[in-house]
Amino acid sequence: MRIAVLSDAPSETRVAATPETVKKYRTLGAEVAVQRDAGKAAGFPDSEFEASGATIAADPGAAIRDADVILTVRRPDAAALAGAKPGALAIAIMDPHGHEAELRALAQAGVSAFAMELMPRITRAQVMDVLSSQANLAGYRAVIDGAAEYGRALPMMMTAAGTVPAARIFVMGAGVAGLQAIATARRLGAVVTATDVRPAAKEQVESLGAKFIAVEDEEFKQAETAGGYAKQMSAEYQAKQAALTASHIAKQDIVVTTALIPGRPAPKLVSAAMVAAMRPGSVLVDLATERGGNVEGARAGEMVTAANGVKIVGYSSVERLAATGSSLYARNLYSFVETLVDKAAKSLAVKWDDELVRATLLTRNGAVVHSLFGAAAQPTASQPAVATAATSAPATSVAAAVTL
Ligand code: NAI
Repeated sequence: MRIAVLSDAPSETRVAATPETVKKYRTLGAEVAVQRDAGKAAGFPDSEFEASGATIAADPGAAIRDADVILTVRRPDAAALAGAKPGALAIAIMDPHGHEAELRALAQAGVSAFAMELMPRITRAQVMDVLSSQANLAGYRAVIDGAAEYGRALPMMMTAAGTVPAARIFVMGAGVAGLQAIATARRLGAVVTATDVRPAAKEQVESLGAKFIAVEDEEFKQAETAGGYAKQMSAEYQAKQAALTASHIAKQDIVVTTALIPGRPAPKLVSAAMVAAMRPGSVLVDLATERGGNVEGARAGEMVTAANGVKIVGYSSVERLAATGSSLYARNLYSFVETLVDKAAKSLAVKWDDELVRATLLTRNGAVVHSLFGAAAQPTASQPAVATAATSAPATSVAAAVTL
């Protein structure tokens, strides 16, 4: 089996494998080709990849030649996969929602594409949960970025020159990123409050020593899906939530927003009027900018300063922790790839009816096969649909054996 690790530069600082995971792939019996400088921005030079047993490929084409598995951080450009072996597995954070055209292009490139972020949140797959591994880091980094942009100290300080009050930090959205943001803000000595629409978040917020603030009506009590995610809230609820948070936000020094609803644009939680009501020098850090943002005026990858001097940070926080982000992501990937391999035969053996494969597989045999995106994959004249085990007979076990 041959594994290709492509560079995600220049749009991304993280890399999909580290010298540590290359060694593990080698132990599985795989050859690993890493595209030149793929790990450079994350602090993993080619020399370390070579020392761990990888070969360095001059360009993406050389890396993917004869590869059975192609690893990237973000969805690869279908054009870059033009020379890929038919049926090669392309595994990444695919960001499939709203990108149906790109999924069709991946299908046409002939690869079987897997979206790591669709991994079910079951015990067996926790070690592969890229949403958690990356959101945890993003939540931490958001507070660090907020503290760096804030022109005052965070902890209360009693000095000979007088007392400095503790900063007030408000975290909106208390999932994985939000809970880590709360913990980080508490460690730095801030007075922390937080909100979420899922009732289960209340106890978690309070257990971290923060105060929970939310409209706790009947809709709130039902606001969690069976999968543990937030539901889209009604316009009425959002209006009540906005009224509650408006007065609270005006008194905050740093606001970190992390609110997301799977498959939908991020909910707008902080309006321009709320930003205008904050004190000059206050900072908003919006972790949801890639899905449209929670804060009006936030821009992905940038910091903007509002007319009143309030800073709105829209950086991709996890990309600012490229080494740690890569290490955890690479381990998540390895744990998944390991399940696709027959260790005794040292061959790739995908069980197409496995729960994890079915949840994450987007494309196969030239078609988009995922139930969430299949409708968008209606065959066109130029792209006939191909019946596959994944679409037509999910209960059938079909293992593809490829020599290692
Ligand atoms: P996420 O990244 O989809 O969303 C972040 C947070 O935003 C969520 O807590 C969500 O409730 C909140 N949110 C959405 N709309 C909001 C609004 N209008 N106002 C305020 N907050 C809003 O969620 P994440 O971080 O992926 O976690 C979702 C759930 O999954 C959590 O319960 C988490 O504990 C659980 N989880 C379970 C794991 C497992 O292995 N069983 C692993 C990781 C997370």
